[in-house]
Amino acid sequence: MAGGASAQRRALVTGGASGIGAAIVRRLAADGLAVVCADLQGEAARRLADECGADAVQLDVCDYERVHAVVQQFGPFDVLVNCAGVDQHEFFTRTTPQDWRRLLGVNLESVLNTTHAVLPAMQQAGYGRIVNVASEAGRLGSRGGSVYAAAKGGVIAFTRSIARENGRKGITANVVAPGPIDTPLLRQAVQQGGGKLMDAMTGATLAGRLGTSDEVAAAVAFLASEAAGYVTGEVLGVSGGMGCGA
Ligand code: NAI
Repeated sequence: MAGGASAQRRALVTGGASGIGAAIVRRLAADGLAVVCADLQGEAARRLADECGADAVQLDVCDYERVHAVVQQFGPFDVLVNCAGVDQHEFFTRTTPQDWRRLLGVNLESVLNTTHAVLPAMQQAGYGRIVNVASEAGRLGSRGGSVYAAAKGGVIAFTRSIARENGRKGITANVVAPGPIDTPLLRQAVQQGGGKLMDAMTGATLAGRLGTSDEVAAAVAFLASEAAGYVTGEVLGVSGGMGCGA
């Protein structure tokens, strides 16, 4: 779909079954987009989709062929939101190459898979909004999250490159970089990292608190909107000021 503001835009949201992704699915659906919620947890994705009038599909974003098949089946998409992610709190010397492959695969290579699948149709339509959920760790580094931070830094550099390649084709590509947001992923990291990790995370923000998934979804919804057409290649921190100055 190339033109008219009245036509319904189609959005693919990965990692949409839980936490920040679920808030994004709800928010984009409430904003009137036709949303496809794609997640490894197919049942949870289906329940959420039923609740807010979206479509759902079980998808491993690391599976290049399957990503293309899903885009073929449900696309073409005007909006792509990459939110699927995994974290692991461990000092680098204690991690294994197997950990690296998982962290880089889910957090970075997945973004290449989905972007590769949706971009040609966006280019043909002359319209597209790509929003990648990275992390402040991708700008600042992370003590106990080096490989995760490397992946998220890669997402930022990749997004800016896609913005450069497609700036004149009506396609924008931006990053939302959350700080500590109250989700299952964060609670799992706190379990792995011990009680002091929570104090350290909130203490690193100017706001002195955790953020909410809805606060991240609001930023994503703006960057995914037609109104944000002159915003591209940006990194928008939603982190209570954690990335201030980065
Ligand atoms: P979450 O764990 O609540 O949700 C992540 C979702 O991704 C889950 O539904 C999970 O099933 C899905 N997922 C994982 N691997 C997948 C795969 N291979 N294929 C498809 N789906 C897969 O996590 P949360 O906190 O909502 O995180 C969402 C995004 O925000 C992630 O990219 C994360 O790195 C990022 N983020 C989160 C922060 C936080 O404090 N919660 C801080 C900074 C970034």
